Amino acid sequence: MRRSRLPETADAPSDWRVIRTLWPYLTEFPGRVTVAMLCLILAKLAGVLLPMMMKHLVDDLTPGKHAIVVVPMALLLAYGALRFANVMFGELRDLVFGRVAERAMRRAALKVFEHLHRLDLEFHLTRRTGGLSRDIERGVSGINSLLRFMLFNILPTLLEIALVAAILLFNYGASFAVITLVSVVLYIAFSVTITEWRNKYVRAANTLDSRANTRAIDSLLNYETVKYFGNERHEAAQYDRALADWEVALTQNRLSLSALNGGQSLIVAGSLTWMMILASQRIADGAMTLGDFVAINAYMIQLFVPLNFLGFVYREIRRSLTDMGRMFGLLEQHAAITDAPDARALRSHSVGVAFDHVRFGYGAKRTILHDVSFEIAPGRKLAVVGPSGAGKSTLARLLFRFYDVQGGAVRVDGIDIRQLTQDSLRAHIGVVPQDTVLFNDSLFYNIQYGRPGATREEVERAARLAHLDGFIAQLPDGYETQVGERGLKLSGGEKQRVAIARALLKDPAIMIFDEATSSLDSASEQAILAALREVARSRTTLVIAHRLSTITDADEIVLLDGGRVAERGTHAGLLAAGGAYARLWALQQKDRAGEK
Ligand SMILES: Nc1ncnc2c1ncn2[C@@H]1O[C@H](COP(=O)(O)OP(=O)(O)O)[C@@H](O)[C@H]1O
Ligand SMILES: [Mg+2]
Repeated sequence: MRRSRLPETADAPSDWRVIRTLWPYLTEFPGRVTVAMLCLILAKLAGVLLPMMMKHLVDDLTPGKHAIVVVPMALLLAYGALRFANVMFGELRDLVFGRVAERAMRRAALKVFEHLHRLDLEFHLTRRTGGLSRDIERGVSGINSLLRFMLFNILPTLLEIALVAAILLFNYGASFAVITLVSVVLYIAFSVTITEWRNKYVRAANTLDSRANTRAIDSLLNYETVKYFGNERHEAAQYDRALADWEVALTQNRLSLSALNGGQSLIVAGSLTWMMILASQRIADGAMTLGDFVAINAYMIQLFVPLNFLGFVYREIRRSLTDMGRMFGLLEQHAAITDAPDARALRSHSVGVAFDHVRFGYGAKRTILHDVSFEIAPGRKLAVVGPSGAGKSTLARLLFRFYDVQGGAVRVDGIDIRQLTQDSLRAHIGVVPQDTVLFNDSLFYNIQYGRPGATREEVERAARLAHLDGFIAQLPDGYETQVGERGLKLSGGEKQRVAIARALLKDPAIMIFDEATSSLDSASEQAILAALREVARSRTTLVIAHRLSTITDADEIVLLDGGRVAERGTHAGLLAAGGAYARLWALQQKDRAGEK
């Protein structure tokens, strides 16, 4: 039974799990974290002393109370110094902590990327690649915003609330401190509740945004197909439908934000007025000075400035956590194909391949291969032929262990490949796939990819063997020609030859050619076949072929039909048997005669 895939958004770990996962990434620079915390505390201390300074200045400068003997120079200078310290330590904190966040982002992105390459083919076929890269991008920027908001907003604000409450309590008695705390608690509770409520609108907007994006990307990737069918209008209509949903979500998003801001302002204005009334009564009673009035006002305003962003900050933090959760959730995806704990490395250079009563299906419902058995002795060549959909490419994928068999075994060098390390197994196998996809880079890069680090001579030799040299010589930019996204600027045949060249460069013990010459014309095919025969001579080779004329020299030919071995033998033997192979051969010979 294959494990089922979770839907794309449902596999996020809880917030605490996310924070626990993030934690190790922050411990790389403990010194920086400590200094940043110190700066945070110093900045806030300077900040809460400011209104006190203001109070003394106002009191000293108030005319009438007592004659101004000297301008309170020291106080003014101290006020200036505190203001500077407040900003300076804040800047210093950003400066020191920035590195911590940036390194954490880098490490996390790399870790997820590496993990994605460890996951199996089925995972990648099921997932949308655009969605994956968005998950990483958002998760990484989520780390940044979470840390920034925590350190630059939440922590300083909490510290400030505590300090201000203490100062008010100490200087002006309980009522001021209580009003402050009550209004702050009310404010936070309101912001969090409303933010939670409007979260669904925010999330909907995000989902719809991503849906519209995926549509656009998919449509642009299929540019040629769209043109072939003249479906530009259809594509535009579909994109617009996605955009329209997004538009509605944005409107709801905006309206609910206004509700949040309105409520917050009401709470701030209410508590500020209440306090001012209280303070002015005290002044009237002579229990407070004008300076106190100014100081209390300054404290309240100073306190609510960062809280003003609370709804936004809370939402951003939640969003960051969700985004990070989705990214870290990828790390919790386990590959279906893993190395056995006691897996061995394949070392031998001359290895045989055996399929032993292999049964396999991509899903549980449909079996693709039924009881398939064959053997390729070291250095020998086996050809598989058969109609499209018979399961030929599946054989190649099983040998490369992109999937595990459900019955029987695939053996290399006599060892069940599930007992081998994937790295060593795959290092022994060169594949020229049926559809070659290239990197959006130069021809040279794409060929050299077969063995990064190969010299220029080696790359050119491989290109010659694959009969690419003539083509490259015609190109104005030669090896530096850019092949376009997925290699779209090359013809099918050219791409296949690049694939052949890089497989040759890899120089593996086992070669798989999956209809590797199907996109070539007969002349190039013959030329390359000679080269391939040369290559195959010393290697164990599995050739999947469409044109039978290309595999007449195989040591054994297997005719696969509907996932079963229908016929097997040498070319001559199969012809003599007069079965399906012989009929197919006759058919293809007639076609070739017709071509001439
Ligand atoms: N990843 C996949 N998931 C489900 N079915 C698949 C997958 N890949 C191939 N198939 C199905 O398996 C069958 C055999 O495919 P394949 O081995 O590629 O055939 P071919 O003999 O033409 O190379 C086909 O019917 C195909 O639709
Ligand atoms: Mg195929």
